[in-house]
Amino acid sequence: MRRASAFLALLAGLVGLASAQNAPSFPFCQCVRSTSTSRYEVVDTPAVSLKPGYWCVQLKVKETCDKPKSPCCQADLYKIELLAQAGCVGSRMTASYGYSASSLVEVPSVPTWETPDAAPEGAAVLKLVRLGLNVSSADGIYICYKALSGSCRKAEQVCLPGPDGRCQLSLFSSDSSCW
Ligand SMILES: *[C@@H]1O[C@H](CO)[C@@H](O)[C@H](O)[C@H]1NC(C)=O
Repeated sequence: MRRASAFLALLAGLVGLASAQNAPSFPFCQCVRSTSTSRYEVVDTPAVSLKPGYWCVQLKVKETCDKPKSPCCQADLYKIELLAQAGCVGSRMTASYGYSASSLVEVPSVPTWETPDAAPEGAAVLKLVRLGLNVSSADGIYICYKALSGSCRKAEQVCLPGPDGRCQLSLFSSDSSCW
C-alpha cells in the first residue's frame, strides 16, 4: 500500500501561525508535524513585495534543532504548501526565489493548485515543489509568487490567513525518513 504521504512535513511552520485550534488542520496530509526536528522557519513578517507584481516570504534556518541529534536536522527543503483561498484555484502563477530582488530566479517548477478532500469550504492549497534547498541555501532566501493573470495578485488575495492575519505555510522535505 502506498503511503498516504510521500513527503513528510518537517515543519508545520507558518508565517506566525499561533496554534489555531478551530482552524482547519493544515497541512492536509498524514505526515509528521514537528518543529522540534526542523531548522527551517518562515520569517514572521507579512509578505513583502521585492519586485512589482511579486509577493514574497522569507525563510530562515535555525542554527540548531531543538532535537539536534535527529537526522531531520539536516533534511532538505523540497516543497512549500500555502493555505489559499479556493477562489484563486486555477490562477496561473509563477514562483521565483533568491536572496534579493536582483537575484530572483525562477523555481524549477510552477505552483500548482489542489483542493484536498480534507480542506474546509473555501480553502485550497497552492503547492510549490522542486525547491532543491538545504540548510545552507535556504537561509535568508525569499520565495516569491506572481500571478500571471486574474485577480489573485497579492498575498492578501491568495492566502487564507491564520488567526494573526498572515499567510500560513508548511514546509516539506523530499523524503519520509524523519521522525
Ligand atoms: C546546499 O546546496 C548548495 C547549492 O545546491 C550546495 O552547494 C551545498 O553543498 C549544499 N549544502 C549542504 C549542507 O548540503
